Amino acid sequence: MKILVTGGAGYIGSHTCLALLNAGYEVVVIDNFTNSSIESINRLEILSNKKINFYEEDVRNKSKLIDIFTNNSIDFVMHFAGLKSVYESVQNPLDYYDNNVSSVIVLCDVMKQFNCKTLVFSSSATVYGDPDVVPIKEDSPLSANNPYGYSKLIIEGILQDLYISDDSWRIAILRYFNPVGAHKTGFIGEDPKGTPNNLFPYILQVAIGRRKKLSIFGGDYDTHDGTGVRDYIHILDLVEGHINALEALSEKMNMLTVNLGTGKGYSVLEVVKTFEKVTGKRVPYEIINRREGDIANSYADSNLAAQLINWKTQHTLKEMCEDAWRWQKMNPEGYIKKL
Ligand code: NAD
Ligand code: WQD
Repeated sequence: MKILVTGGAGYIGSHTCLALLNAGYEVVVIDNFTNSSIESINRLEILSNKKINFYEEDVRNKSKLIDIFTNNSIDFVMHFAGLKSVYESVQNPLDYYDNNVSSVIVLCDVMKQFNCKTLVFSSSATVYGDPDVVPIKEDSPLSANNPYGYSKLIIEGILQDLYISDDSWRIAILRYFNPVGAHKTGFIGEDPKGTPNNLFPYILQVAIGRRKKLSIFGGDYDTHDGTGVRDYIHILDLVEGHINALEALSEKMNMLTVNLGTGKGYSVLEVVKTFEKVTGKRVPYEIINRREGDIANSYADSNLAAQLINWKTQHTLKEMCEDAWRWQKMNPEGYIKKL
């Protein structure tokens, strides 16, 4: 079976490619490297001892996409390509709507043309906005307070409409909570460009000495220690969710929307303390004002994913910290050095 993985050089896409290759799938990748580099693809080939059919292209380039489908008999698509910074999306909303929304429209149009109608899509817990109730179930009210979040909501709507128009589509919408950690080998991991927005990469860069201290955004939330609570999920568990979703689509399901989270929430201070304990590194921090747009509590009810795609997370916060730290120690500057 041949899978087209868009954004396959990025953080989640690269880990998924490796799992797909190891599970015996043939993998075709399209990525324009706006937030990644060819080195992750090189490493995937070394780790899997397999060849990846790779295209440095933009998913919105319809004629190139048609070429790719013409030259490869694609069975399924996993669509990771997209821009993902909430902050940037507020500065450049048009880029975000264009990149994220247009790429889905072009991709689905070409898929339809080639009668390839099985798609796994990366959505986000951001579609729940500021939830009234935690743990968050899939039928909770949806909202967004930034262009990135809106782009995911719009795409979810497009995919639902596509399925309503033609029920031979098979579509899995996966709402990720907070993916962290890295592959156990330490050869692939998350390599953010510029200053990290997310907690884990920031902690890692403080621990490795690239940044002085962590700023904790807010110590006065209505949580057990005043800092924000999130559902951190190990990248390897997240990847497993994609394989299970694909299998569920192949076997029985037509359209599904599920949360991918552990169901457990940890505060920023708990993450920092756990990281310090398992790595033996100190993470100096300072508690500052809240970050605009942040919420107090977000963690998943993951029962629907257990039921529909037979999925359960395995990795603890301790393993998330250990694996993320191994990647950072082995690659202090990310993918800059060739393996
Ligand atoms: P990433 O930036 O590491 O990977 C995305 C990849 O897509 C990058 O390699 C980038 O170069 C590529 N890309 C972007 N636009 C493209 C385009 N138009 N054509 C071709 N390639 C393009 O991000 P990630 O963390 O791996 O996220 C993957 C997906 O998961 C994204 O859609 C993101 O919105 C979603 N998501 C991520 C998180 C998270 O915290 N990492 C959480 C929820 C959802
Ligand atoms: C986690 C916690 C921060 C950085 C974002 C997007 C969401 C999704 C995942 C894609 C919060 C605190 C963080 C720092 C801190 N992405 N923090 N200091 O905000 O839950 O979600 O990434 O879909 O859409 O909004 O993740 O890792 O940024 O923050 O104190 O330097 O860590 O306030 O409580 P978040 P995060």
